[in-house]
Amino acid sequence: MFNVLLCGFMGCGKTSLAKLISKKSNLKFIDTDQEVEKLIGLTIPEIFKNLGENYFRKLESQILKQTLQQSNQIIATGGATLTFKKNLNMLTPQCEIIFIDTSFKICFDRIKNSNRPLVKTKSRQQLEKIFLSRKTIYEKIASNTLFEQTKMEIKHKLALVLNLIDNFKKLNSN
Ligand code: S3P
Repeated sequence: MFNVLLCGFMGCGKTSLAKLISKKSNLKFIDTDQEVEKLIGLTIPEIFKNLGENYFRKLESQILKQTLQQSNQIIATGGATLTFKKNLNMLTPQCEIIFIDTSFKICFDRIKNSNRPLVKTKSRQQLEKIFLSRKTIYEKIASNTLFEQTKMEIKHKLALVLNLIDNFKKLNSN
């Protein structure tokens, strides 16, 4: 049961990167947010607005559990998915967690005009506080980290992550 999970704050580029990784490898692309939307037929902002964040978190856990029943996937998680113990407990040692450690400034520039519920309801300062508390968790749980402290081209990030995946596979096949 080998799976790669990308984690990191909103705007670090998990989804775009996972899509490219899937094209360049034999890993199937999964985005947990998109799966939640498909499951319930509502967008993430609609779920937060009409059903509440707690309900979204339940659906997110359900999707993660379902997803992890399959193997050979590159999974873009939501920004908070792997900060919950319940979700972390679903992972096995065969799951490679890659933390995309993009600076807050870069993330914020990418998300500030988006319709993500957290971005719509929180100030820049509040978001930075959340960013910092989550970063501590990601650092603890990740098998590997990709640092993006100054803007990097996606093809460069792609090459680095593909390399991390290769190494993880090699180490775990011995
Ligand atoms: C969230 C991040 C979003 C999405 C939801 C909540 C968060 O995913 O799961 O809006 O709490 O950080 P992305 O990180 O893909 O934007």
